[in-house]
Amino acid sequence: MKILLLGSGGREAAIAKKLSESPLCTSLFIAPGNGGTDKFGVNVSINPLKFNEVEDFVKNEGIEMVICGNEDPLVEGLGDFLRERFDNLLFVGPGKEGAQLEGSKDFAKEFMARHNIPTAAYFAVNKDNIQEGYRFLESRKAPYVLKADGLAAGKGVLIIDSLEDAKKSLAEMLDGQFGKASQKVVIEEFMTGIECSVFALADAAGNYKIIGLAKDYKRIGEGDKGLNTGGMGAVSPLPFADDNFMQKVERRIVAPTVKGLKSDGIDYRGFIFFGLMRTPAGDPKVVEYNVRMGDPETEVVMPRLKSDLVTLLQLTATNKLSDAEVVISSEAAATVMAVSKGYPGGYAKGLEISGILQPKNAVIYHAGSKKTSDGQLITSGGRVLAATSLAPTLKEALENSYRALEDIKFEGMTYRRDIGQDVMSWE
Ligand code: AMP
Ligand code: GLY
Repeated sequence: MKILLLGSGGREAAIAKKLSESPLCTSLFIAPGNGGTDKFGVNVSINPLKFNEVEDFVKNEGIEMVICGNEDPLVEGLGDFLRERFDNLLFVGPGKEGAQLEGSKDFAKEFMARHNIPTAAYFAVNKDNIQEGYRFLESRKAPYVLKADGLAAGKGVLIIDSLEDAKKSLAEMLDGQFGKASQKVVIEEFMTGIECSVFALADAAGNYKIIGLAKDYKRIGEGDKGLNTGGMGAVSPLPFADDNFMQKVERRIVAPTVKGLKSDGIDYRGFIFFGLMRTPAGDPKVVEYNVRMGDPETEVVMPRLKSDLVTLLQLTATNKLSDAEVVISSEAAATVMAVSKGYPGGYAKGLEISGILQPKNAVIYHAGSKKTSDGQLITSGGRVLAATSLAPTLKEALENSYRALEDIKFEGMTYRRDIGQDVMSWE
């Protein structure tokens, strides 16, 4: 099968490697890809947001499956666009309507309320009902959670300690702090507990398969301090997400979500990322939905997935997931992100990357890297490389990932040294 994967991050690198290992994959193209994805397929310089470019490539190359790695094209309607034009194309990802699960926080909250899916209490505010928004804030206790309704590149969530600041921020958000994304704001009850991410494939016939789980480390600093990032590392499995917890996740969250999509008449065929809070009582609640895999969670989910990914995606796109068999390795995976100095603020690009990029006991997934015309690897983003290992224990996986990073260099390279520590000491 000829496959086109859209995206350029560490997530796409991990998906590309897994696809390339399938006997069903005859050729793999990654658009635009990065400085490491060319090891698994051919990078092509297409912008996934330019739907006509994607259409032309699919037509000219005879592409049979398209997988959309990130959310923007899905929210813009790439799925509907391609499905309308190609009868037999296998497209992995929801159409525009289903992508609203990530594209609009208000849509997601209404969906969860309608289908009785546990999540934080909320109130949606726009300029017309701002006074009611203030009253809702006054009726709650600190901290206050304010979320831009639309996509805001992971920056649209504010957690605020004082009522006065929360009211001020609400007004600023509605005044365009995050552009169109914060024309509407969702105020949420603050949830306590420990977060984890659960990943499933879902089809439009109401079938689903859970393909993995992970914890990511969002803050830049050790001990979860400092600014939020896209994710500084991830581990899987998780001792606190035991069988009992996962049964609750499946029964209370995954199954009703997929059933709800079907009963709402939404043609959903693709990944669903459940961002969850495990409350102190051990119950799962939804923090957010995403309509794609997580990054860097994918870098630990893919190595543990033993089943053939092309087969799973084929069954997803053809609504036959009931036939799928998912086998997940009992081994542990860890990934540690090497990031540019200054990230998540401003950082330099174009710095030379050197060292051992194909270590023995780890895989280096490239994220923000690219190759110059003369083949030199340079940095091109904030999150540059994800050092990943699979080993019998999490401790060994972490050791292997950290050892691999010791042999890599670029100016100002930094990484968190405490990835997985909380998970290892969980009781
Ligand atoms: P989101 O983009 O909705 O995942 O929010 C980003 C991050 O903000 C989450 O990963 C949580 O750490 C935090 N967060 C979001 N909503 C809540 C909530 N209701 N209670 C506590 N923390 C939250
Ligand atoms: N690591 C979180 C995300 O991909 O949204």
